[in-house]
Amino acid sequence: MHKFDLHIPTRILYGPEQGTKFANHISGLADKVMIIIGGGSVEEKGYLQFVQSLLESNKIQTEVFRGIEPNPHSQTINNGAQAAREFGADMLLAFGGGSVMDAAKGMAALLYMDETDIWPYVRGEKKSGRITGAAPIACIPTTAATASEVTPVSVISNPEVRGKSVIASRHLRSEVSWLNPDFTTSLPSTVTRDGASDILSHVFENYILGGNDSPIADRYSEAIIETVLETLPKVIDSPNDAGLRGTLLWASTLALNGMQQAGRQPGEFVMHSMEHAISGFYPNVAHGRGLATLYPAYFRWMVEHNRATDRFAQLGTRLFNVTADEPHRAALEFISRFEQWLQDNELYQSLPDLGVSTENYQQIARYAIDVYGQDKTLSALGPITEEHIVEIFHATEDQHTQKSVG
Ligand code: NZQ
Ligand code: ZN
Repeated sequence: MHKFDLHIPTRILYGPEQGTKFANHISGLADKVMIIIGGGSVEEKGYLQFVQSLLESNKIQTEVFRGIEPNPHSQTINNGAQAAREFGADMLLAFGGGSVMDAAKGMAALLYMDETDIWPYVRGEKKSGRITGAAPIACIPTTAATASEVTPVSVISNPEVRGKSVIASRHLRSEVSWLNPDFTTSLPSTVTRDGASDILSHVFENYILGGNDSPIADRYSEAIIETVLETLPKVIDSPNDAGLRGTLLWASTLALNGMQQAGRQPGEFVMHSMEHAISGFYPNVAHGRGLATLYPAYFRWMVEHNRATDRFAQLGTRLFNVTADEPHRAALEFISRFEQWLQDNELYQSLPDLGVSTENYQQIARYAIDVYGQDKTLSALGPITEEHIVEIFHATEDQHTQKSVG
């Protein structure tokens, strides 16, 4: 195994009955909590009022900041930080999907640093790497997708530059995260599918590029992939089943808590670099949907270029019982089987199906390299250039939607 440094400081409370414990924990950290929410789903369902009453019965004062959009805008984060400052918040509680959690992290950093604009702190901008602290953060995720409730990462969009970039800082970890599957039963099927795609991507990225030296990371990741592959269709059939929802929710946390990478050789998040550039340019593209669109094209491109063939082959053997006699064939067979799963689960489409114009491929590819690359390439066991990215984008055009998206 390769050396690693793993620190997972977030307390995780799982289960609907953990509300009181969650509120108790928060009362030890804060008196005034700004609750950050998205476009209103948690309010419509009454979840927000429930959480507010839990906090208030612990004598915690709350105020709500509403309106975080999917692929959260830097300006909204700036506005939220100002509102938190005016309220005198000593903690930010994110109650929503990855977008809400990431926005709360950005606000927490601005609040602590007494700054007004988050965009200069993202990767590729002039204050990148200079987050010096953040107000305490707590999370209640309502999607099974990003694992932002345990990651040190915030992903921020800026429509003015049609860009989407990241801040990674140890200060951005949630103190305590409450995973309550009941809050995810209201998720529409499209968001559920998008989230499952995102979970898979987090384990795939490290699996594909991480080499063979951490057999435990392999088995750990395979368990997550297998669980998601078999659970998503069941959740779609029984959306109110909190047990099934809980399985996806826990899978999402486990897929990006650092365990999936421990002991492997370091690797970049290449699909994420490409996808963030896409949804930065087209903010209506959901992150998980963009990733689902890239999978078959990127996987085939890798195998055609003799990269990670043995890793794809191992996934084929272990997940789909592929019995091909040599790795190249097994790798391609894995990709076909996985592609079939994407089709069966309404996650199969081309970039133009998502509204991405072929005319913009080059500009999107350049953004991915400029912000996420080094020496004018991304790195996936060899360089991935701007032209390669454009090739991969074009290859998605062979992926024809068989069922309607949604
Ligand atoms: O805004 P509301 O009304 O809440 O509606 C949201 C939104 O429209 C809805 N939703 C969320 N919970 C719901 C619900 N609808 C009904 N019932 C519920 N319980 O779902 C829609 C999508 O929400 P969003 O938060 O955008 O989705 P997701 O959780 O997939 O987050 C995506 C964002 O996270 C970033 C992505 O790039 C993207 O910006 N990521 C963050 C990461 C991190 N911080 O570590 C890692 C990931 O790889 C990812 O990049
Ligand atoms: Zn992701």
